[in-house]
Amino acid sequence: MTKPILIKKKIKPFIKTIQIEGDKSLSIRWALLASQAKGKSRAYNILKSHDVISTLNCLKKLGIKVILKKNYCEIESSGLNSFKNKKNLTLNAGNSGTLGRLIIGLLVHYKNKIKIIGDKSLSKRDFSRVITPLKKFGASFGYKKEYGLPITITGLENPKPIKYLENKGSAQCKSSVMLAALNTNGETYIKAKKSRDHTEIFFRYLKIPILVKKKKYFDIIKIKGGHQFKGFNYRIPSDISSSAFFIVLTLLAKKSELIIKNINVNPSRIGIVTILKKMGAKIIFKNKKIYNGEKVADILIKSTEQIKPINCPKNLNSQAIDEFLLIFLVAAKAKGISSFNDLSELNQKESPRLILGSKILNMMGIKTILTNSSIKIFGNPNIKIKNTIKIKNYLKDHRIFMMSTIAALTLGGNWKLYNPESIKTSFPTFLKLIKKLKR
Ligand code: S3P
Repeated sequence: MTKPILIKKKIKPFIKTIQIEGDKSLSIRWALLASQAKGKSRAYNILKSHDVISTLNCLKKLGIKVILKKNYCEIESSGLNSFKNKKNLTLNAGNSGTLGRLIIGLLVHYKNKIKIIGDKSLSKRDFSRVITPLKKFGASFGYKKEYGLPITITGLENPKPIKYLENKGSAQCKSSVMLAALNTNGETYIKAKKSRDHTEIFFRYLKIPILVKKKKYFDIIKIKGGHQFKGFNYRIPSDISSSAFFIVLTLLAKKSELIIKNINVNPSRIGIVTILKKMGAKIIFKNKKIYNGEKVADILIKSTEQIKPINCPKNLNSQAIDEFLLIFLVAAKAKGISSFNDLSELNQKESPRLILGSKILNMMGIKTILTNSSIKIFGNPNIKIKNTIKIKNYLKDHRIFMMSTIAALTLGGNWKLYNPESIKTSFPTFLKLIKKLKR
């Protein structure tokens, strides 16, 4: 474990432009799809974080050629069904739920038994949610009663297409089934509660036969398997979830302004912006463009003196699922009571974020009322932190560490934050960028 960081001062006003690393969801999806493409694929601006490196390592173990250079990553594959069949193979998904859940979709045709392991946090997370639909393809699984990793999967020569209802609003479950569908002979039908649609956009970009009908709460997705696509080059837009820390830092800092360049503003990911605007934030998208089907823009954000409380509409939950810790922090500074409902999925993340988010607000002197799926936050625009806040065990969760850092820099007081190495999961340059704003 590296040394804890100490923060004793609020950040001074800044006016800056920054660049953020590539999007994590897109980096992992690019690598997994490149492993199914015939020939060479290249990605630029790929995120070099632990979750993505774990993805590349798993693919290497499956016999895929991977080269990671300073400016790009190259993957070479013989296409669909070309993972090398080895006996007694173990894949380590590290801390990444996205990798663990998506890669097993690609293994429904892998004929030997293969074991998937992960770190302590991933070992506690629910895999039954992907095992249930993947079994319908014909794959068999070995797993513990308590549903976490390790699991084993044994695939088959000809997985059968399936019909699947995804009703948690989980893009990981939807995408795992979509990837499994690639290696079948026939049409897979998915009815999925709204969630991020990067995999659908990738499929369309790669001309994989896919039909998507968007309804109010659900999408209907039909995929024809067996279509071989060629190696492809891809520029990965920067990560809105990582940008969110800097959006909130600027919002809560005094007299500051920030431009964050080339951010993926896919409508299924910008819940944070919609919610913060409802709370009075000044955020503008500039230089809008499209990279390979994904919307991209520069985000301009300015400090906001008065923050309004919010009764957060539930339909924004999946669009902001990784940003609620930050949204809770903003609600803590609002003048009035904010409420957030139907958020039990937050307790299914790298740590139980609904519970821990509430505990951190309590440490700051903010009153909350918490249930299994909701939180009420009694905001106070004049929060003053008197005691030293020491946060130890929660901070192995990268997003809790980074949210606490933003709280320390904007609310003042003395903070001792353990486990700064957790940022390597999703945003290795986080602390360097904070330093850049201080200069
Ligand atoms: C992700 C989907 C979300 C999100 C996770 C990344 C993805 O999880 O929390 O960080 O890349 O598909 P769920 O789909 O389980 O909600």
